[in-house]
Amino acid sequence: MDFLSKINKDTTPEHIAIIMDGNGRWAQKQGHDRLFGHNFGVESVREVLKAAQTVNVKYLTLYAFSTENWNRPQEEVDGLMNLLVSTIGNEVDELDKSNVVIRGIGNIEGLPATCKEELKAAFERTKSNTGVHLILALNYSARWELTEASKKIAQEVAQGNIQLDAVNDELVSSMLTTAEIPDPELLIRTSGELRISNFLLWQIAYAELYFTEVLWPDFKKEDLYEAILHYQSRERRFGMVSEQIEKNL
Ligand code: IPE
Ligand code: IPE
Ligand code: MG
Repeated sequence: MDFLSKINKDTTPEHIAIIMDGNGRWAQKQGHDRLFGHNFGVESVREVLKAAQTVNVKYLTLYAFSTENWNRPQEEVDGLMNLLVSTIGNEVDELDKSNVVIRGIGNIEGLPATCKEELKAAFERTKSNTGVHLILALNYSARWELTEASKKIAQEVAQGNIQLDAVNDELVSSMLTTAEIPDPELLIRTSGELRISNFLLWQIAYAELYFTEVLWPDFKKEDLYEAILHYQSRERRFGMVSEQIEKNL
């Protein structure tokens, strides 16, 4: 199916966030270990990034490792960290050449030293690029982020730098690791699971949610285009009624 030609380029989401799920099941279905699936998942990241560039998405946020994922077997955690280091190392030239800005959200400081160094080098190297922002959610969880933001705000109020009355939506947003990144309009989760798993709880307040049975290593360009088409078929009312939305068009 040619979904790309049906996409209205004027209403493409500016920011798409993806919970890349199903690598383990994909591998196990074929009799391989879970890491085999993670390795193949990297190819889907490449494809989806290219697809996002094709339709002028400005921000692509990928949930790559949650704070809860540390609870997986040590072998898998080590494998994922090694994969992260090798992937960034292998891809950074190409990403830089194609004008991608690589960014990270989450507790990057809490990652192993090799990951941190590789990531920070990639952030530094691509920070002046002007193309799509590839935002990797690593050692990320929304509750961690909101707790950190709450602490920062409490401290600022206690020190008298911020008045209690000045604490509003905007201020909270500015204290998150996504400060200055617009909220995603579309959140995709692969693998058929119907949950958010501690991802961007604040930022997805009004995102359209799209769930697909496709496992992440099978998720390719056309799957992204299909998700965008679904998004474009929805009416985003933001608490209003249909008639109001139609009048604004
Ligand atoms: C998503 O795939 C990747 C990470 C969470 C790192 P999973 O590893 O969760 O795969 P399933 O859900 O067990 O199939
Ligand atoms: C969510 O997937 C985290 C990432 C995709 C990095 P999980 O596989 O960890 O989520 P649960 O455990 O099924 O909720
Ligand atoms: Mg999973």
